[in-house]
Amino acid sequence: MPVELCRVDFEPIGMRVDVPAGTTLLEAAHGAGVELASVCGGHGWCGRCRVAILAGDAGAPADADRRYLSPDELAAGRRLACRTHVAVDTRVHVPRASLVTGQRLQIGGVARDVAVEAAVRGWEVETAPPTLTDHRSDVDRVADGLHTAHGLGRLTAEPAVVRQISPLARRTGWRLAAYVRAAGLRPGSDHWRDHELDHEIVGVGPPGRGPLGLAVDLGTTKIAGYLVDLETGAELAAAGVPNPQIAYGEDVIARLAYAARQAGGADRLAGAARAAIDDLAGSLAEEAGAAREQIAEVSVVGNTAMHHLFLGLPTRQLSMSPFVAATARPLDVRARDLGLDLAPGCHVQLPPCVSGFVGADHVAMVLATGLDRADRVAVGLDIGTNTEIALCRPGRPALSCASCASGPAFEGAHIRDGMRAATGAIEGVRLTARGAVLRTVRDAPPVGICGSGIVEAIAELRRGGLVDERGRLCRDAPGVRLGRDGPEFLLAPAADTGTGRDIVVTQGDIEEIQLAKGAVHAGVGVVLEATGTDPAAVDEVIVAGAFGTYLDLGGARDIGLLPRLPHARYRQVGNAAGSGAKAVLLSLQERDRARRVALDARYIELTTFPGFQRRFAHSMWFPAVRGAGDHRPSDDHRDRE
Ligand code: FES
Repeated sequence: MPVELCRVDFEPIGMRVDVPAGTTLLEAAHGAGVELASVCGGHGWCGRCRVAILAGDAGAPADADRRYLSPDELAAGRRLACRTHVAVDTRVHVPRASLVTGQRLQIGGVARDVAVEAAVRGWEVETAPPTLTDHRSDVDRVADGLHTAHGLGRLTAEPAVVRQISPLARRTGWRLAAYVRAAGLRPGSDHWRDHELDHEIVGVGPPGRGPLGLAVDLGTTKIAGYLVDLETGAELAAAGVPNPQIAYGEDVIARLAYAARQAGGADRLAGAARAAIDDLAGSLAEEAGAAREQIAEVSVVGNTAMHHLFLGLPTRQLSMSPFVAATARPLDVRARDLGLDLAPGCHVQLPPCVSGFVGADHVAMVLATGLDRADRVAVGLDIGTNTEIALCRPGRPALSCASCASGPAFEGAHIRDGMRAATGAIEGVRLTARGAVLRTVRDAPPVGICGSGIVEAIAELRRGGLVDERGRLCRDAPGVRLGRDGPEFLLAPAADTGTGRDIVVTQGDIEEIQLAKGAVHAGVGVVLEATGTDPAAVDEVIVAGAFGTYLDLGGARDIGLLPRLPHARYRQVGNAAGSGAKAVLLSLQERDRARRVALDARYIELTTFPGFQRRFAHSMWFPAVRGAGDHRPSDDHRDRE
């Protein structure tokens, strides 16, 4: 029987798709290339995929619809896309707050000077063309030229590279730039001309076109790419794109579940990340005026789940106790085996992970911030769905690491009006006698509240005495009203928002943030206790990652997310993992250092640490409000800008 197809139009994006009847609107959106947010992977528990049915049959609301949408909204045809099945041709309005795009993607990070010592170097070679009296093969001819001109011995080239050499050499009159990789080159030495060393030609280009490298921070939310010159270390282009795996679940747990439960799910996740990196490589090369075939070496860092999904490694054991990696070792993989269309022999370097929850991105952050070399007591935090914590101190072990499940609340999920840091997201809140003063991303009318915004809002509610130590909203305080799920604070009335709906902070939102900040606070506390470190002895707290970049330190300290240490001891470093990925790409010494960091790091399992649950429960409370003189919010704002 022929399958009945229904047409779905998405507005105002202007995209359409034909899907079999019964398909969910979320699946249809992803099929049409509409980046509809789905924190929970389409399971109906995040409320992020809200749409309005303009024409067609919205059907009866599901339980999940009733949880996230008011009776008025339901009557007006609003639904969750993941709970709505297409039965007839349908026209759908997608509000901006439900889109992943427009999201602010933090890619800049702490700058580090790295002495360039890449595994791939470019060598210009000129050789005589073949004649009837000189029958050497094309590859032998190039290899002999490299040996004669530069003293390189034992050169090999894979068939994929030979396919590039023969036509290019004839086009360029036997003058080439050869991208040569030395296997077994020891860091800190220059043994390129060592006759015992194996050299591999991984690609060739016309003369004057040297080899480039691509460093990638494969994050759960975004993918940051940096194109660098492998000979000078100069950054030629950098960009960030949303991780398209978001279509299958916005956090690691949802994606691991998708990979485990859906037929072909793991392949789809791997394919999505690989295609995004391949596209990113192409656009970065174009921006730099280079050819993608010049990219002769790649490094990729990511958390252990992203790393495994990208490589197509088994992931089931990552989501089951005792949560171990399939492999945590450094890996070297051919780019073409990962679907990356770069120099034909290009290798992808993946630095080691520490554990199932502390990945190579954390190792890269340690490299970039120099935490492993610190001669002081320093804590490094990368706050996200999972928060990684590193503590370094003089002595051994120099580095201790832990990871806590802080959940997606800091990314706007599970928050009634939560969203990512996209256009119109409230990112700053000040409560004044005349009401809430809001700061939004790109100064657009507010459409929701992002992670840094909800932290500031709650800090302000605490300072104003509207929320008590246990996190309860005071029902009779100005601005607090009884909403459909209990007390809520009106942050922006419908008339002032870009959605025509009130934006509120609910009691449930506060509880979500209490859970998230409690996990981080308890995690830091356990790491300090396990290492016998006095909290007051912490000389420096390094806050890395996109959320940490825009976080108001004053607010974060006031709600107990960050330790209450003097402002001057904090450093916000942006995307340090990306900087670490570049270091690994450019320097064999840094590659070796990454290996040592992962090997020497002591992993602390928080959940089995004595008293962790009690500590976690205590950590959910808010600290006492400081005296007015202690708080200097304007300093924090200046820092961020
Ligand atoms: Fe629909 Fe989460 S509720 S994707």
